[in-house]
Amino acid sequence: MSSEPLYPAYLPTRPDGYAPTLDVPYFEADEPGTRADPLKQTLLKAGASLTNITPRIGTEIRGVQLSQLPSAGLDEVALLAAERGVLVFRDQDFADVGFQKQQDIVQYYGPLHKHPTMGYPAGTGPEFHVVYADETAGNLRTLLGPHTTYDLWHVDQTFTPNVPSTTFFWVLEIPESGGGDTAFTSLTAAYEALSPAFRQLLGGLSLYHTSASVGEVARVGMERALKEAVSTTHPLVIKHPVTGKPSLFVNPTIARKIEGFLPEESDHLLKFLHDHIKSLDFSCRVKWEKGTVVVWDQRAAAHSAVPDFKDGERRHVVRIIPYGIKPEPAFPGQFSASG
Ligand code: SIN
Repeated sequence: MSSEPLYPAYLPTRPDGYAPTLDVPYFEADEPGTRADPLKQTLLKAGASLTNITPRIGTEIRGVQLSQLPSAGLDEVALLAAERGVLVFRDQDFADVGFQKQQDIVQYYGPLHKHPTMGYPAGTGPEFHVVYADETAGNLRTLLGPHTTYDLWHVDQTFTPNVPSTTFFWVLEIPESGGGDTAFTSLTAAYEALSPAFRQLLGGLSLYHTSASVGEVARVGMERALKEAVSTTHPLVIKHPVTGKPSLFVNPTIARKIEGFLPEESDHLLKFLHDHIKSLDFSCRVKWEKGTVVVWDQRAAAHSAVPDFKDGERRHVVRIIPYGIKPEPAFPGQFSASG
């Protein structure tokens, strides 16, 4: 590991005891993807070349700078992210355009989420979420303790009425010996793989989401995580606000209980669904390169870090999350809010 981080200004800091409120009440939100040109002509005219990573999820994009896109181009990014789940922009200058511009670009998509516990660069705020590993900070394996595997599939921070939408995640430093990819899985393709009879059952259900997530319990302890917990319910199958497609809106680390089910029924069904979304049939792995910015739609794809890199090596990634609308059920006729 090089002794100094490449981007020291982006090291995570957090004043002691500082905790922004988690309780973000419902608000009317905009979905820029809904007004985008379906042909993505602004992106294409700007020079974007698109290559699908797999047929069902992921598109790699070269030849265009996110930092220079006009609003029509940003709308098209939201639409494409909703359609493809995750977009991998290569050779970007985004890491070097400065805090203000980074924040302004993501804020175009909606008000920004403030992370309850993760660190942020000094001089910014909890709208920046720094994911940082080195020999002192440790990594996800250090945080979670001994386990056989560390995949932690989730959608970020879904315990409020409005939920995360077009999220930006950019890399500053990659582990020297490789690894530290991020994996994504399509929640729309996961839904489409189910039988019509099973879909009918799921379409009527809703899920309880809580901020006392696996990650937060590990970070701040069970007592504090439960004391500060904020929760809400969302339909288990939502209508994607941009594509209109049904999406299997499970969240293994945050959404713990199916409303109206007894605990064993809920645990059993959720275990099946959590295993189901991990399938390689509809997931992909994103390998970070210098200059990579990942943009993904959190209603269309869940993600997991892959903490397979060598202990002590530095990995430095930063994320900003905008909020989109409150998810609506995909099939209002089948759905009952109480499950
Ligand atoms: C996360 O799980 O939110 C971070 C993903 C990563 O570090 O790749």
